[in-house]
Amino acid sequence: MSLQASTMMDEILKSHPGSQRDHLIPILQEVQAKLGFLSEDAVVRIGRHMRIPASKIYGVATFYNQFRFTPKGKFHVMLCRGTACHVKGSAKTLETLTKALRIEPGQTTRDGLFSIEVVACLGACALSPAITINGEFFPKVSQTKLAKLLDECRQKAGAVAPAVKVDTTSKSSRRGRTGKMEEKSS
Ligand code: FES
Repeated sequence: MSLQASTMMDEILKSHPGSQRDHLIPILQEVQAKLGFLSEDAVVRIGRHMRIPASKIYGVATFYNQFRFTPKGKFHVMLCRGTACHVKGSAKTLETLTKALRIEPGQTTRDGLFSIEVVACLGACALSPAITINGEFFPKVSQTKLAKLLDECRQKAGAVAPAVKVDTTSKSSRRGRTGKMEEKSS
């Protein structure tokens, strides 16, 4: 953990003195907001502060979709799974996205280019299914449009690797970085 990150952690933990369990989620939220993700170091420090085993903290954090354990990719894709988007096929869009990038929501591709996050609503239900990439909104995202957007991201990054291949038929293995501990709360 960098000195800057460590100082941020100190400030957050100082603002939550004691070890009240109901402070855990707010602490995790604040740490993620400041550091961008929950690193192993951060989880261990929170555990020490609250006198809770790190494994228990992982058990709690992994229960919620909002927490991630790796830094976001250069291109962070937020995909809406709210009701309106669901009706318009967001499940298929998500399946296509995870197959194309070979990661699950909450993960980052090995090359650090892409990460995926699933959200409940992007606030533009009339334009579903919708996604954002690094905060830029894209309405009515078809499979073809999704492939084009991913290709454009690669081009912007100057990636020399072949374009992202959208494959909705084969069962690809998931190879994203999760950084999560294996153990769950006991
Ligand atoms: S449900 Fe997807 S934008 Fe609202």
